[in-house]
This record gives sequence, structure tokens and C-alpha cells, in this order.
Amino acid sequence: MRTSLSNLLGVFALYAVAQTSGRSAEATGAAASTPDCRCFPGDACWPSTQKWSRLNSTVSRSCDPFTSIDSPCQVGAYVRYAINVTEPADIIAGIKFAGKNNVRLVIRNTGHDYLGKSSGPGSLSLWTHHLKDIKYIPDYKSEAYYGPALKLGAGVQGSEAYAAANENGVVVVGGFCPSVGIAGGYIQGGGRSILMSKYGLAADQTLEFEVVTGEGKHVKASMTENRDLYWALGGGGGGAYGVVTSVIVKAHKDIPITVARYSFRAGGTDDTSMVKFYDALDFLHQMAPKYTDRGGFSINLYSKGFPTSGSFFGPGWTKHNTATLFQPFIQKLDSLGLQHSLNITEFPSYSAAYGSTPETIPIGTFQNGGRMIPRDTILNKRAQFNKVVKYITPSSLLGAIMKFLLLPLQWSQILKDQDTITNNWGRQLRELAPESGAYLNEADANEPNFQREFYGENYSRLLSIKNKYDPAGIFYALTAVGSDAWTQKPDGRL
Ligand SMILES: *[C@@H]1O[C@H](CO)[C@@H](O)[C@H](O)[C@H]1NC(C)=O
Ligand SMILES: *[C@@H]1O[C@H](CO)[C@@H](O)[C@H](O)[C@H]1NC(C)=O
Ligand SMILES: *[C@@H]1O[C@H](CO)[C@@H](O)[C@H](O)[C@H]1NC(C)=O
Ligand SMILES: *[C@@H]1O[C@H](CO)[C@@H](O)[C@H](O)[C@H]1NC(C)=O
Repeated sequence: MRTSLSNLLGVFALYAVAQTSGRSAEATGAAASTPDCRCFPGDACWPSTQKWSRLNSTVSRSCDPFTSIDSPCQVGAYVRYAINVTEPADIIAGIKFAGKNNVRLVIRNTGHDYLGKSSGPGSLSLWTHHLKDIKYIPDYKSEAYYGPALKLGAGVQGSEAYAAANENGVVVVGGFCPSVGIAGGYIQGGGRSILMSKYGLAADQTLEFEVVTGEGKHVKASMTENRDLYWALGGGGGGAYGVVTSVIVKAHKDIPITVARYSFRAGGTDDTSMVKFYDALDFLHQMAPKYTDRGGFSINLYSKGFPTSGSFFGPGWTKHNTATLFQPFIQKLDSLGLQHSLNITEFPSYSAAYGSTPETIPIGTFQNGGRMIPRDTILNKRAQFNKVVKYITPSSLLGAIMKFLLLPLQWSQILKDQDTITNNWGRQLRELAPESGAYLNEADANEPNFQREFYGENYSRLLSIKNKYDPAGIFYALTAVGSDAWTQKPDGRL
């Protein structure tokens, strides 16, 4: 995974987004559990309160349920019990308990997971948010790497890692949202970053993991120990192989970063205005291979009838370099007569540049569907690419997102949007770049054939590693390797 995702660096990911209410599936009914199903709240085999209390007393003062049993609310897709993990022994106790009592287990790190891997109806969760240790290692030595590194507990969030790195004059490759835990599904799913065109994906930075396996063993995984597990954790997806308690990642010397913020808008939504709008988008897309080759990265948000806005990050770029890159684009916008703005600022460090980015986006209020579009498609299938862009933009999704703030949507509309993403826009994207795949952390949760789209030719090898380290199949997460052995019923039961 590691290598193949890196090979796709400089690719361009196109996301189709629709809003949702974030409402979770409601747990109802109590069909008897069978040996093929996990026990579910309400089943005779669901552990008694005494059993849960006994587990509570064996772990470090935790295991609080989110809601009291007699409260009239719906727990829905949330877990029933959570272990507030403070040490590996807590994880081991949770794994043993879930195995013995046939209860669904969820690994919940910190930040967000668009695909819902960090939650599950009727489950016990291992919550690793409080594993916050950070250690700077100035001279990490291994066969593969010699240089600065950072050891991060599983619960260390992006902003905490960036601050610790900054204190030591280095940077680490992490996510765009400051709250996302680096060691969890982020890095295990590949990990895209502002810095990825320069240093590679987050998974490319990993030197060693500490991980509790499905058999309840706390082991190391690196190039020299449990190498197969190390390989799987570097892009093979979170929630499948073990509970990572820490990771050591490469750190890089800090460098100045130039940020360009730009926007443009079409004069209206009439045909003439839209031709100009798509012409400008085409120009913007064609710039991508030029700056990704030189370590640059950008995020663009566009929708018919709304201003397009984007942010460009150039690690090691000067203000002058960046202005030179954008000059032809500005000329193009001028020639099209489109209103625009451009603000280029050079920052002395990654932290300063990152700190200038807008705050996080709300999670759970929209639905994703993404696909990686290779450079070859952008350059050599330009007309087809532009046709797909046109096809998936006229829906005024941003408008829908804004509307949602005022007006919660109906569940039926959410399902309709899901269908549009998977079977309509998703199909267009698959046809445009059939040889490519999706970045599993930001993909469509309902992706048909996710095994191929998320894991490619390595699915069977990953599955055999999963089966080796989790022989009882205790770890399940939606679209994770091995998850196809299970079905989730409409009431949420596995
Ligand atoms: C499968 O894994 C190998 C070894 O890491 C890698 O070279 C290859 O690109 C991967 N293929 C896919 C489709 O991810
Ligand atoms: C778990 O134990 C703590 C004390 O260690 C207690 O405050 C809490 O109520 C217990 N939770 C349950 C569900 O028994
Ligand atoms: C979880 O444990 C940490 C210590 O590791 C503690 O600071 C925190 O308050 C606990 N949270 C809950 C919800 O019990
Ligand atoms: C340009 O961006 C910088 C950094 O975010 C900000 O301080 C400055 O006010 C902006 N300038 C304009 C004219 O918007």
C-alpha cells in the first residue's frame, strides 16, 4: 500500500460531497443472536451489568457508558461501553472481554472518521484518546533511517504533534484537521497531508508501531520485527489488524512555507458565465502536475453558482516562486473577465503556515465520495475529465450544505444523496480513472467493490496478515480488510 499510494503522489483527488444530518441508525428489535452473530444489547447473551462492572474494575477507572440505561434517548450507532484506555493492559482486558462475551469491539482513537469506523451499535469501544505521550528522538537509528523522529502516543492529535515538532525545529507529516490522531486510522489508511508532495504520505514516515494484536499481545511492528504487520499498518487501513498504542515517525527539518489563498467567481449561472467558469477550473486543474512535482499542494472547493476558493501550500517555496506560478492563472481569470482575489504570504515555519489555515470543517454533516485521479488522466484525458467535473458540479452542493445549517434534512434525502454519490457521480469517477482507486479515509462508505478500490491487488495479502494477527476476527470496521466476512443488519447488529 505504502508504495502504491506514493506512486500516485501528485495525483488529484476529486470529491463528491453531499450533506447529511449525521443521524445514526437506530437500534431496534432483539433477534436472538446465533453463533454467527455478535451479541447485541437485549440478547440473552449480552453481558450482565455485573459482568460489565467486573470489566470496569479490571481496567484503569473507566468503562463509563455514554448514557444511563434508563434514560429515554437512543444510543443508536454509538457504542454501549467505552474503555478510557490509559495503558495496554486496558486494551488487552477489553479484547478478552469482547471475545469471551461475543460482543462487537470498536477501536476508537481521536478526531474523526468519515466512514464511521470509530463507532458501532451495540459495541464496546477501546478509546485511545488519552494516550498522549510525545517524545522527540533527535537521532533515531535503524537500518532504514537515521535522523530525527517523534514518538507519538495513539491519542496525540495533529495540532499537538505539530507543536511538539515545532519546539524542536522539525515537522512531521500529519492531517489537515488539527484534531485528527496521527497514529490511528489516519496513518494506517495512508495519510494525506499538506506536506505529502514533498515528503510522501504519512504512512511513508512510519518507523515502528507498538500495537496490541487480536490475541491480546502487545508487540512492536517495524522493518525488523513483525514486518508483515508493519507493512499492513502503513496504508492497509485502520481498525483491522490491532490497536496501535504508539508510532515513531520520521521528522524533517522545518522550512518556510508559502501559502496562497485565492478565489474567483462566475458572473452568474447562465451558459456564457458557466463556460468561463469551467474554463477557469480547467486551467486550475492543469496547474496541478506543475506544482505537485515541486512539493506543492492545494485544496479547492467549487460548486456551480458559488465562489470557488482554494489554498495552495508551497513547502520551501518563496513568495516570488509562488507569484510566478499563479501569474498565468490570474491572467487567465482577467482574460475571462472573472472576479478574483489572491493573497500570497510567506511563513517562516510549518506551524506558522498551518496556523493561518481556517478552522476545521464540521464532521457528520456531509457525505463523501472520493477518487484519486492520476496525473495522466488530467493531462491526457482532459476533455473527459472536464466533462466529469461539469457533471458533478451543477448540483449546488455547497448551497445544500449552507441550507442544512438552517434546515435539517430528511433521512430519505440522505439515502438519496448516498445513492447519487455511489451510483451516479461515483460511477462517472470510476469510468474516468478505472485503473486508479480511492483514498480509503475519504472515500464513499458504500463503495461497491471496496476491496479493489481501497486495497487493490494487495487485498488478499492484507487479509492473510489480518487473519494471522487477529485469528478470532475480533476487529471489525466498515470497509476494513476482513469486514466482508460480516454483514451489518438494518438495526445495526453485526
Ligand atoms: C501492493 O503492495 C506493494 C508492496 O508494498 C506495492 O509495491 C504495490 O504498489 C501495492 N499495490 C497496490 C495496488 O496498492
Ligand atoms: C466504573 O468504575 C468507576 C470507578 O472506578 C465508576 O465511577 C463508574 O460508575 C463505573 N462504571 C460502571 C458502568 O460501572
Ligand atoms: C480518561 O482518563 C484520563 C486519564 O488517562 C482522564 O484524565 C480523563 O478524565 C478520563 N475521561 C473520562 C471520560 O473518564
Ligand atoms: C493575506 O493573508 C495574511 C495571512 O493569512 C493576512 O494576515 C492578511 O491580512 C491577508 N491580506 C489581505 C489583503 O487579505
